[in-house]
Amino acid sequence: MNPLYEKMPVSVFERMSLAAVKHGAVNLGQGFPDFGWPTEILDAAARALTEGSNQYAPSRGLPALRQAVADHYRRHHGLDLSAEGICVTSGATEALAASILATIEPGDEVIILAPAYDAYAPLVRRAGGVVREVALRAPDFRIERDALAAAVSPRTRAIIFNNPHNPLGRLFDTDELEAVAALAASTTLSSSATRYGNIWCSTGSSSSRSLRWMEWRTER
Ligand SMILES: Cc1ncc(COP(=O)(O)O)c(C=O)c1O
Repeated sequence: MNPLYEKMPVSVFERMSLAAVKHGAVNLGQGFPDFGWPTEILDAAARALTEGSNQYAPSRGLPALRQAVADHYRRHHGLDLSAEGICVTSGATEALAASILATIEPGDEVIILAPAYDAYAPLVRRAGGVVREVALRAPDFRIERDALAAAVSPRTRAIIFNNPHNPLGRLFDTDELEAVAALAASTTLSSSATRYGNIWCSTGSSSSRSLRWMEWRTER
């Protein structure tokens, strides 16, 4: 096994889920949905399995699905994406892995806001990158502009975070996103705001506005 992964400790998500099962506790560590799916979705999935094509899909995803994704982001987030620019993956972790492996070169530094989703650091290291952690400190766990700026070096290639933040469970406000975008705009960084669970979280409009604004501010 690759020594990097061999030496990696068991993820905190795995530890907490096992502990929750063992002690019969409510599991706040991992977001297992405890609700069902709408019948129309189950029916459509069943129809697709029995009647649809079971051949390989194009590796970037079916054109109709990529168009539906672009439409979703236009409708819900005001983002002007073309289907041509969409790549469909099996979950967020695959997308993160593809993005990190495609953009991070050995020796590049990547800033992550700690505590962070646990796939970020191993993926950056697997790409040969160096992880720079910027702490989100109690009691407010805010992104501090100065701390972020202090972590930037000529080797910094990216800042990776998610909003709403896992594992903190808070939504970064416009000032905090401004701090990240301003830094990215004033350096050669690319700013990558990964969103997870956005269908649930974007009903309040502040996160959608922030995302759109972030894209404008950091576009190159
Ligand atoms: C921030 C974040 N990114 C990615 C993931 C994993 O997503 P997926 O299961 O779609 O790979 C999670 C899961 O909890 C997450 O919280």
